[in-house]
Amino acid sequence: MCALEEIPPGEGRAFAVDGQQVAVFRHRSGRVSAVQAACPHAGGPLADGQVDERVVVCPLHLNAFDLTTGESTSGQPPLAVHPCSVGPDGRVGVEL
Ligand code: FES
Repeated sequence: MCALEEIPPGEGRAFAVDGQQVAVFRHRSGRVSAVQAACPHAGGPLADGQVDERVVVCPLHLNAFDLTTGESTSGQPPLAVHPCSVGPDGRVGVEL
């Protein structure tokens, strides 16, 4: 889908995967995660949010979401979480 190098460590980027917008995060640990790109609260750009190993915080109204379960930790509807991994060629693969 994209090269891991396209995403700076500790940040996210939005990509189109089969016509769907997906936010992919490269954690400082080297792990990657992927969720729907649009925040379920009001469509904010989750790829631009603050992220740690476990949670992304939407930049618009600061609702937080668990990147493993998709659950909101602040009472919003859950995110779609997509299985995601880095292949031996250094490319990120996302399953919808
Ligand atoms: S749009 Fe994400 S918290 Fe409001």
